Amino acid sequence: MLNSKLPNVGTTIFTVMSKLANEHNAINLSQGFPNFKVDQQLIAIYKTILDSDTHQYAPMPGLPQLRYAIAEKVQHHYQRKLQAETEILITAGATQAIFTAITALVHDGEEVIILDPAYDCYDPAVQLAQGIAKHIAMEDDFSIDWQKVEDQITDKTKLIIINNPHNPSGTALKKADFDALTAIMENHPNLLLLSDEVYEYIYFEQPHISVNTLAKIRERSIITSSFGKTFHITGWKMGYIVAPENLLTEIKKVHQFNVFSVNSTAQHTLAAYLPQKDLSTLSGFYQEKRNLFRNLMAKSRFELLPCEGSYFQVASYKAISQEDDITFSKRLTTEFGVAVIPLSAFYEKPPKNNLVRFCFAKTDDTLIQAAEKLCKI
Ligand SMILES: Cc1ncc(COP(=O)(O)O)c(C=O)c1O
Repeated sequence: MLNSKLPNVGTTIFTVMSKLANEHNAINLSQGFPNFKVDQQLIAIYKTILDSDTHQYAPMPGLPQLRYAIAEKVQHHYQRKLQAETEILITAGATQAIFTAITALVHDGEEVIILDPAYDCYDPAVQLAQGIAKHIAMEDDFSIDWQKVEDQITDKTKLIIINNPHNPSGTALKKADFDALTAIMENHPNLLLLSDEVYEYIYFEQPHISVNTLAKIRERSIITSSFGKTFHITGWKMGYIVAPENLLTEIKKVHQFNVFSVNSTAQHTLAAYLPQKDLSTLSGFYQEKRNLFRNLMAKSRFELLPCEGSYFQVASYKAISQEDDITFSKRLTTEFGVAVIPLSAFYEKPPKNNLVRFCFAKTDDTLIQAAEKLCKI
């Protein structure tokens, strides 16, 4: 028998739900990907790039022109002046960014704090680095009790991972959260922060607080972002890391052996496209979708939780059923024709909370049809 390095990892619920959605011809609001058309300007640029001499390896840290374009966006949105040569790394999506950062920085036996519910790629990366993932549950409203977090820190704690705006809950961290986190990092000078900000341009009533703006902690932080989320191109698997040079030097040592460099044609395309785009319009685009979905669902028996950012809406089905969330989600797909993700999928120790996650990165038609079905339950 092969001794698995990840004995507890099986087929993810995302795969299970998408397969079930296909088999039952259900509307798929489960996996987080857009089903609308990509900007035709982006496609036009890509076509020209494909006809040019862009098909060989890009430089290991990424095309300089793409790194400069990212540095300009970071300066514009967060007033942080980055050194594009040494503080930005282009990655194959945020997933590779996170995996590479954890592999490079976490040693055997070091602890990493993960706040549950959490995106599913953090824990396996920590395990493969032979680190110890310490899961701390958020409160019922998905706020974070920072005292609880600080209480879990030991002299072996290397890293805290935050995700803001948050998948799956759709919540966003507030100034008070960052004040508390900054105090913790000041009390523990060796602690590093991994701030997963893939939804940084999708926020609603309150502006996004990026770690890029926080001078006291950004010099000890790795920030990850994803062009997949920002430009509706999740299949391209393009993202990047912003980190201070001393951390990024270590991360690049791993990067050059797990991918060496990232898809060159996609990098050239994004380098030409990014400077032309006003990223501040993305929030408005998704806010309309969020509002449409919430308004349509107001007549349903689902209770919608607040949604402050990301393209996910969490809802309680307590008024409909007392089933566990996996059974309920499967039944929603097979009997009512809408696929969702049960929230327990994001926990090490799932609470009994009767919650499911809807993805509203869908055409208005899809959202209308899904809500019609959901309102009949
Ligand atoms: C919170 C979070 N982090 C990271 C990722 C991965 O991003 P990418 O597709 O760029 O690898 C996702 C994708 O769903 C996500 O939701």
